[in-house]
Amino acid sequence: MATLCSYHVLTVLMITTLLCILYIQPISASPQAYTNFIKTSCSKTTYPPLCTQTLSPFATSVQTNPIKLCNRALNISIQAAHNTSTFVSNLSKQKGLSWIEKAAIKDCMDDLKDCVYQLKQTMSAMGELGGSDREFQWANAKTWASAAITDTDSCLDGFEGRKVSPQMKNKIKSTMMGVARLTSNALALINHLNY
Ligand SMILES: *[C@@H]1O[C@H](CO)[C@@H](O)[C@H](O)[C@H]1NC(C)=O
Ligand SMILES: *[C@@H]1O[C@H](CO)[C@@H](O)[C@H](O)[C@H]1NC(C)=O
Ligand SMILES: *[C@@H]1O[C@H](CO)[C@@H](O)[C@H](O)[C@H]1NC(C)=O
Repeated sequence: MATLCSYHVLTVLMITTLLCILYIQPISASPQAYTNFIKTSCSKTTYPPLCTQTLSPFATSVQTNPIKLCNRALNISIQAAHNTSTFVSNLSKQKGLSWIEKAAIKDCMDDLKDCVYQLKQTMSAMGELGGSDREFQWANAKTWASAAITDTDSCLDGFEGRKVSPQMKNKIKSTMMGVARLTSNALALINHLNY
């Protein structure tokens, strides 16, 4: 009887431990406060659902740090620009492109390269916000991020003014709009830092 009882106690202990591991760990690793912080911050951006959807997976590392949130948003923009670059470069390998289409694609690849450079500059400026020239670096970050958005416009303008097949135009437009929207969100987050 006594052994049976201690078996029960042991089983209950094991189950409790298991439940603790299963439930408490995810809750303490990603408290509601972190997700709420992302939602609240994203509500001030141009595309709140896109912002929340792309940043929520990083709630645990961002916690409630607004600068980390901006940097993560910039990082996602850079990834999106890289992805778009791969996509556009792939389009350029299609057969039967006109020289006008090839030229528009080449210009767009250059715009994307500039875009990534400017997003990286934004990140560097963000890294200097702890220093004495905070106002200056904050202004720099905003300028670089705006320039990155302008680059996505330049790419699209290049296709608007030229004889390019509507399919190609639409494909590039939709991927490029993704980069533009993510970057616009990142800029909004930077604008809302409290300095
Ligand atoms: C973006 O984040 C990934 C993963 O956290 C990291 O490996 C990469 O270096 C970051 N890129 C930039 C430009 O910060
Ligand atoms: C970029 O592409 C990778 C691989 O296809 C994907 O996992 C990632 O989610 C994409 N990132 C963005 C921001 O589009
Ligand atoms: C590149 O294009 C080919 C054919 O157009 C397609 O099958 C492939 O999935 C594309 N790859 C990427 C990374 O977009």
